[in-house]
Amino acid sequence: MEFARVFAMYWSATGTTEKTVLTVARVLAQELKLPCETYDFTLPAARQSSPAFCGSDLVVFGTPTYAGRVPNVLLKYLDTLQGGGAAAVPVVTFGNRDFDDSLIELRDILSGHGFGPFAAAAFACQHSFSEVLGAGRPDADDLACMERFAAAAADKARAGRFELIEVAGTPKPYRGYYQPRDRAGNPIDIRKVKPKTHDFCDGGGKCARVCPMAAINPDDVKEIRGICIKCGACVKKCPRGAKYFDDPGYLYHKTELEEMYKRRAEPSLFL
Ligand SMILES: Cc1cc2nc3c(=O)[nH]c(=O)nc-3n(C[C@H](O)[C@H](O)[C@H](O)COP(=O)(O)O)c2cc1C
Repeated sequence: MEFARVFAMYWSATGTTEKTVLTVARVLAQELKLPCETYDFTLPAARQSSPAFCGSDLVVFGTPTYAGRVPNVLLKYLDTLQGGGAAAVPVVTFGNRDFDDSLIELRDILSGHGFGPFAAAAFACQHSFSEVLGAGRPDADDLACMERFAAAAADKARAGRFELIEVAGTPKPYRGYYQPRDRAGNPIDIRKVKPKTHDFCDGGGKCARVCPMAAINPDDVKEIRGICIKCGACVKKCPRGAKYFDDPGYLYHKTELEEMYKRRAEPSLFL
């Protein structure tokens, strides 16, 4: 197959998926001596359309893992994709717990929409909820691993090996969404939890501009007027640190994750 361009396409609320996909796509483009374009569909405006792909495209496609799956708020948009016969490298990130069925789900979404996924990977990154879980990842070791992965995927492409890639995970219908529980085993429901705003907020409005759900009122950033998916964009990107979560269930889940998943989760590569 003759390729004309590499594409980096991703959704990334706190930047780790962006860094991962851009690293893999950059090395693939270098290896194959191709130009690299990007399409970031994190913000709602970018989800009004998608690039027109064709058989001479090689698309590195990334999402984070949410509750062990592809974030369900993205499914409607992903259903509009048209791969046009492009080769694809599905990539998921996860916050040092597990990627469960997110990679197999993303692979299936892509292959069901006209892409040909031939290599895939899951990379552990800093957790959206936390400053300590997977802190600083992707780090230098992760970036080196992404580069080795991209070089190996380029070798596969040069060898013309484009058969559907087998990845870890439970095949369709997949496992259910990962359910956080308290110590008594009762489910913790954080779906309605919204971020709070410290009094020292200066109303600069960055939180509203970076919210992937456009849930924050730009004229009064204390007002969360839409659905909050707990992606952490407003908390991590506020220059003053003015957004925070104080819901007891959310904090319990975050602390439990931090205590249970102290070990370093390694990347999983499928080639
Ligand atoms: C609602 C939500 C659910 C998550 N579920 C998982 C999970 O099941 N397993 C895991 O290891 N990390 C989980 N994470 C962490 C993210 O997958 C991880 O931090 C990812 O790197 C974030 O990508 P981003 O920086 O591109 O937004 C979750 C994060 C959020 C916000």
